[in-house]
Amino acid sequence: MAAKPVLVIGATGKTGSRVITRLNERGHAVRGVSRNTEIPFVWEKRETWPEALRGAGAVYISYSPDLAAPGAPADIEAFVAAAADAGVERLVLLSGRGEHNAVRCEEIVRGSGLPYTLLRASWFAQNFTEGPLLGPVLDGLIAMPAGEVAEPFIDLDDLADVAVAALTDARHEGRLYELTGPELLTFHEAAARITEAAGRPVAYLPVTLEQFHAELSRQAGPEYAHLLTELCREVFDGRNASLGHGVREALGREPRDFASFCRDASPAWTLPS
Ligand SMILES: NC(=O)c1ccc[n+]([C@@H]2O[C@H](COP(=O)([O-])OP(=O)(O)OC[C@H]3O[C@@H](n4cnc5c(N)ncnc54)[C@H](OP(=O)(O)O)[C@@H]3O)[C@@H](O)[C@H]2O)c1
Repeated sequence: MAAKPVLVIGATGKTGSRVITRLNERGHAVRGVSRNTEIPFVWEKRETWPEALRGAGAVYISYSPDLAAPGAPADIEAFVAAAADAGVERLVLLSGRGEHNAVRCEEIVRGSGLPYTLLRASWFAQNFTEGPLLGPVLDGLIAMPAGEVAEPFIDLDDLADVAVAALTDARHEGRLYELTGPELLTFHEAAARITEAAGRPVAYLPVTLEQFHAELSRQAGPEYAHLLTELCREVFDGRNASLGHGVREALGREPRDFASFCRDASPAWTLPS
């Protein structure tokens, strides 16, 4: 009998795409879904969920736009019920460190009755290359309401390695992994490492939450600006200024440091000539 496919939600995203690459390399059957895949999966359209879940074994859940969104716990609760109805055998939730809404979602998955693993991740290093901070890096100025708070940025190649281990190996069931990089860096220090790798100056400018909200509102609209500003208000108070050991616990090796990430990432920061 063919193995049940691993369902990867957010297939084209920063983490989902890496999880799929690794599953394919290891020869696992994979079904990657997003709003634009052949089998569509749309968080706001629950009628799309059963078809995506049909016959799936393990499920990687990356929620969009963010677990900090007010509707996330209700969606995760309904999704977990749909997954149980569909006979899913394992859930792996991508969660965020220090966020109360994300903790609520973790509790829902923990209480699902299904085997699960929780990946509680710090800020992604790839926010600077594939996420909302790429534009600011290319402009040479990262304006964030993060003051001098230190963050242990996680490299998504490490996160994806842990996710694949959790999706494919029962030894990770029931575990909560705190996924961080190996060092605490302020945004000033992160900008200095980016500057070195990019070969041109990239500065960090600490701004107030109000300034951040106003600028993001102009660029991305009020809804997204509100979501991200409130997320920053919550997590940039120093609560996440500590290292987690989830990469070592799950994989038996250390996570990659930010300078190594920057060296590999530097092509993304090349300005068009
Ligand atoms: N960024 C961070 O530093 C950070 C830290 C910790 C945790 N997280 C968590 O990471 C998660 C995001 O993961 P990611 O960064 O891998 O994703 P991402 O790069 O933001 O990509 C989002 C993925 O979801 C799909 N998608 C977008 N809207 C959707 C919708 N309404 N319904 C269904 N699919 C949708 C997108 O594809 P289509 O456009 O084709 O639908 C894409 O595949 C969030 O839950 C966030 O809380 C982020």
